[in-house]
Amino acid sequence: MSDPIRLGIAGLGTVGVGVVKIVQRQAALLAARCGRPIEIVAVSARSKDKDRGVNLSRYAWEDDPVALARRPDIDVFVELMGGSEGPAKDATEAAIASGKDVVTANKALLAIHGQALAEAAEAAGRVLRFEAAVAGGIPVIKALTEGLAGNAISRVMGVMNGTCNYILTRMDSAGLSYDAAFAEADGLGYLEADPELDVGGIDAAHKLTLLAAIAFGAEVNFDAIALEGIGSITIEDIRRAGDMGYKIKLLGVAQRTGRGLETRMSPCLVPATSPLGQLEGGTNMVVIEGDSVGQIVLRGAGAGEGPTASAVMSDICDIARGIRIPTFGQPATMLEKATPATALSPSRYYLRLELADRPGALAKVATVLGEAGISIDRMRQYDHPGENAPVLIVTHKSARADLAAAMAALPGTKVVLGAPVALRIEDV
Ligand code: NAP
Ligand code: HSE
Repeated sequence: MSDPIRLGIAGLGTVGVGVVKIVQRQAALLAARCGRPIEIVAVSARSKDKDRGVNLSRYAWEDDPVALARRPDIDVFVELMGGSEGPAKDATEAAIASGKDVVTANKALLAIHGQALAEAAEAAGRVLRFEAAVAGGIPVIKALTEGLAGNAISRVMGVMNGTCNYILTRMDSAGLSYDAAFAEADGLGYLEADPELDVGGIDAAHKLTLLAAIAFGAEVNFDAIALEGIGSITIEDIRRAGDMGYKIKLLGVAQRTGRGLETRMSPCLVPATSPLGQLEGGTNMVVIEGDSVGQIVLRGAGAGEGPTASAVMSDICDIARGIRIPTFGQPATMLEKATPATALSPSRYYLRLELADRPGALAKVATVLGEAGISIDRMRQYDHPGENAPVLIVTHKSARADLAAAMAALPGTKVVLGAPVALRIEDV
């Protein structure tokens, strides 16, 4: 058997402890599969004295993750601290500069600095791997870079933030308000330290950024994502969408269009009977469409100690086995500077309006939509005890700019009360 591969692990929280447990529990299995033992040499976290429920006494301790990254007795630096700046970035750069391979679960770091870090790693002859950064335990990075390497990818989409899917599912299944479902997710410890990363769609957009780079051979460009969170979704929308056979999901989509590379993360309606529509709770799902393979659907735990550590171990095993794949599936310097699509692909839209219930009100709405070039496919007015009538409209495929013009004009009719809601209907 070959020499052991030696790890330095920075970050001993949920994921770091999960990795330590697998290395300790599965030592024999890992050695057999990798052809060499996997050993932890040194670790780092903020607090040395914290009881983490695992035996760390055999490992050297470093207070400073950068010092850990530079240790001459480690081969692989495993970054599990988090954050796009500060120690995670400094230590990753130090590890690459001192000739270490790097494994990270840090989607924020890679979505913002992944291009530069991958170029630096490849220039130094090192690998930088990140299976755990996207969709937790689902091996989606491996699927895209290896399993689907022979395909031209036309679309990657999915539900990549378990917290948002949990909130939307609970609103739907338990009839909770957004605030009540958010509080429930908080109580279960699902929310990031900054909840806006989850409900603002930012965490999921970080993940989509990384998938888009691999799928389309495009430079990592988080700023190109059209981003909208779930904070404005109401129980009313969930119910009305359900009446029409749809579920509301925070959906990420990356696809090449005639106008450039379209990447967006926003709440969308998807058919309730589709795999994405049936995805419940904190689970993730990624759908990939390739020219030869057709459509494949990957589903599994997007977070948590075991699933995320499982993905980290996949990268460590690859490095131990001598598998050295560029970070984004092709050399980072060869990634194309893709033109971000300036307008989103035309789509059907769900519109929810509160109308003054008086003669001619619907006609005024239809006129505004017609003048903006938007054609109505379906329309429904609900029973209402008060004077205002809730009205739902499903449009035919419309350009986003036309829809925005109509939405801006609707309040001017004086029959539309409050802000109308418009959500994209995604063909999945
Ligand atoms: P966590 O539980 O908050 O743990 C973070 C760890 O990093 C802690 O052990 C902390 O030390 C340590 N740390 C923070 N700042 C440090 C510093 N300046 N120097 C040394 N150590 C420092 O985080 P996590 O949930 O394990 O997440 C780790 C990474 O995995 C993040 O990038 C996250 O986005 C990613 N990820 C997490 C999940 C998940 O399900 N949790 C899923 C996918 C990806 P102390 O313990 O001493 O405070
Ligand atoms: N906050 C993330 C989620 C954790 O809810 O999916 C995993 O990246």
